[in-house]
Amino acid sequence: MNVRRSLPVLCAIALFAACGGSGSSDQPPTGDAPASTDAQAPIAPASGAEPFRIGMSQCNLGEPWRVQMNADIKAAAAEHPEIEVIWKDAQNDTLKQRAHVEELVSAGVDLILVSPKEAAPLTEPVAKAVEAGIPVIVLDRKVLGDKFTTFIGADNVAIGSAAGRWLTGALADKGKVVVELEGLMTSTPGQDRHTGFVDGIAGSGIEVAFTADMKWLEPDARREMESALARLPKIDAVYAHNDPGTHGAYLAAKAAGREDEMLFIGIDALPHEGIAYVKQGILDATFQYPTGGREAIDTALAIRRGETPPKEITLGSRVFTAENVESGGAAIE
Ligand code: FRU
Repeated sequence: MNVRRSLPVLCAIALFAACGGSGSSDQPPTGDAPASTDAQAPIAPASGAEPFRIGMSQCNLGEPWRVQMNADIKAAAAEHPEIEVIWKDAQNDTLKQRAHVEELVSAGVDLILVSPKEAAPLTEPVAKAVEAGIPVIVLDRKVLGDKFTTFIGADNVAIGSAAGRWLTGALADKGKVVVELEGLMTSTPGQDRHTGFVDGIAGSGIEVAFTADMKWLEPDARREMESALARLPKIDAVYAHNDPGTHGAYLAAKAAGREDEMLFIGIDALPHEGIAYVKQGILDATFQYPTGGREAIDTALAIRRGETPPKEITLGSRVFTAENVESGGAAIE
């Protein structure tokens, strides 16, 4: 795996990785079993160790990246027979996700993992879980304030900034007109990937001529790109906050016969999505956004051992382009 971590993170993860064990979680990586049913499910850890029940509240499983996050959690949990994961999928519905966190608290799980759809609405249920004595690890998208145990995710401002700097170099004097398709702007990665990008293109003369919130969704990105194409006679690049968004934009440009006019830049870099698009010449660059699934399980086990994890665990990122994709990309600065 080519996730680059900063030194403090490496130390933190190394510290937490000491817990052994082998076996597998018997829960599927998807699905939405009610917590009350799961609470009664028989638990018979092969090792005889005390069971460790982790509730995982995923905001949506409609995007490949989130399916990968659950798969990463499942694979890491499978190495520890005492872990049982109770899976929740809010299907991109904020109210449902709030209810899921509350259900996990009522079910008395030992720890909650949550990857929130939006920051503000999930803040209160997460705080209440912590008040009820249940540690909460927040993954990838943040909540507001500090009433959670640990946040794990990559630095989205740094990724946005690296994307802006890469684009500045790639466009040079070839053009300045850019379309930005934003992730859900009530979620922190959308906000941070925008802020970082603005910083990364500062002083370059690049003009963001069209901006729209595509809410992380490929069909929305495609629709917004159709508007951008109708409005702008020349587009030099598209920067979308995730690879599904960039792919939607590419499909709109291709349908208009204009895909060769512009560069396409995205974020996520899943091997079977963004990296494959780079290899196919669809995307010009994609920036890795690691899921943090394995680190979440390592951290959960550390908490169980009585350790206090860092408040924030920051994962690294890599950029993949036509030039470096075959050699594993390059760490972002
Ligand atoms: C999936 C996703 C990813 C993106 C992440 C940001 O839902 O949109 O594509 O990188 O969420 O939180």
